[in-house]
Amino acid sequence: MPCFLHSKTKPIWGESFKGKVPSVTSGKFSLYYCDQRRYHVPADVGFLYGILYGRRLRSRVRGYAMAETIAFTLNDQPVSVTTDGQRPLLWVLRTDLGLTGTKYGCGQAHCGACTVLVDNKAVRSCVYPVRNANGRQVRTIEGLAKDGELHPLQKAFVEHDALQCGFCTPGMILTAYSLLQENPEPTREEIIQGMDQNLCRCGAHTRIIDAIQSAATAMKGGKA
Ligand code: FES
Ligand code: FES
Repeated sequence: MPCFLHSKTKPIWGESFKGKVPSVTSGKFSLYYCDQRRYHVPADVGFLYGILYGRRLRSRVRGYAMAETIAFTLNDQPVSVTTDGQRPLLWVLRTDLGLTGTKYGCGQAHCGACTVLVDNKAVRSCVYPVRNANGRQVRTIEGLAKDGELHPLQKAFVEHDALQCGFCTPGMILTAYSLLQENPEPTREEIIQGMDQNLCRCGAHTRIIDAIQSAATAMKGGKA
């Protein structure tokens, strides 16, 4: 008997394996053994389980059930989105609002590639529910330059060649921005500590530290 689940063709979900392949039964529970030497629950039970607990369907139901309107200021412009408030801010920025400067690295708050500013504080947008941005000021790398002039941090990254592939750079710059807001004249050691949780797979770390030091000096302790 060919196995409906392991054959190349799609399983015929309405059809039970019962009586077609050898089975093991314990009390009310039965498992069916297929010619690929795998056990299955009956196809119809698997089908119902998929309907009730399938991840895709669950997320769709959640998406429709929890849509809400979230309004915030993005790079000095008011925006509003109607979506599941639990969605990460990262995906709303990239997918719904088209700002792809914010990068997706790990998706688990480990690497810092997705860092944006919320009320001038660095947050990891991959784990930041968009609902939490409601009524706040959000700034991405696209909103750092003013009047066509790069921010001193951006200039310093260019001058110190503080990037290679550039993937970590938006997150590095915005984390550094947040750091300099809190500590406008950091020592080299304080910069290293402040940037410790942002990863650069290209190994531009020392040049990144140089750039931040230089930007801090250029800003002369001011909060540019
Ligand atoms: S993508 Fe958010 S911390 Fe890595
Ligand atoms: S410059 Fe490539 S990851 Fe940092």
